[in-house]
Amino acid sequence: MSLLAIRGVSKKFLAEGKEMVALQDIDLDIDENEFICFIGPSGCGKTTLLRIIAGLEEATRGTVYLDGMPIGGPGPERGMVFQEYSLFPWRTVIDNIVFGLELRGVPQAERLAQGRQYLKMVGLERFESRYPHELSGGMKQRVAIARALVNHPKALLMDEPFGALDAQTRNTMQSELLRIWQEEKKTVVFVTHSVDEAIYLADRIVIMSARPGRIKDIINIDLERPRSRTSPEVNSIRDRILCDLRSEIVTC
Ligand SMILES: Nc1ncnc2c1ncn2[C@@H]1O[C@H](COP(=O)(O)OP(=O)(O)OP(=O)(O)O)[C@@H](O)[C@H]1O
Ligand SMILES: [Mg+2]
Repeated sequence: MSLLAIRGVSKKFLAEGKEMVALQDIDLDIDENEFICFIGPSGCGKTTLLRIIAGLEEATRGTVYLDGMPIGGPGPERGMVFQEYSLFPWRTVIDNIVFGLELRGVPQAERLAQGRQYLKMVGLERFESRYPHELSGGMKQRVAIARALVNHPKALLMDEPFGALDAQTRNTMQSELLRIWQEEKKTVVFVTHSVDEAIYLADRIVIMSARPGRIKDIINIDLERPRSRTSPEVNSIRDRILCDLRSEIVTC
């Protein structure tokens, strides 16, 4: 059975008195342990869809089911990592990570033990007592990933989490994320603008069309990991996706 079932999801926003259709008739099943990437033109509704799955936004029509139950709001089974660094600046690294556990009333010693486990997983043991402003962008996103993982979510929802990183750090973070995904057996729903990133990471790539956002194409990537970034197979997948995306503007 799929972990997430997106059924007939549409979303309209009211902008300056006018209705704007951000998402239209999205239907998709996302399996347990699947790594799925969404790619598409700016404004096609990727963030909106992720927020609907997270329960932060309500669909105008349609429903998203998690394990067969309609999603009615945020929950610990879904951890979100945002593009912008969303750590609390006044909390140390470890206190950021254990925030969700604190909310749920987990006792302090247990909180620390669990927090440290994920701090180690993201390779930041030595930065436990530092504050976010003392960290690099990549380190901040590692903390954000640890903060999402510590609640044992079934699905990790990631909105362009590496978009602000330099190319080299970004590559490292992609490999790290794959390692964590394999260790933790999570479902990952990952939004990106980078075709290369999607091909490196995903089991399936969902290509969205320009507004109103619809699913235009779905591509299975059956290549073994770790993947080459430049093999002939990768190059031909990249060509297909770029053509798909370009045809949102002109027919190629
Ligand atoms: N709260 C809101 N009120 C009104 N319009 C909104 C709201 N949130 C999003 N939109 C509009 O919905 C559309 C989809 O936005 P969304 O942020 O989901 O796009 P996106 O695909 O994530 O874009 P990007 O790639 O630039 O991040 C945009 O036209 C945006 O202006
Ligand atoms: Mg977005």
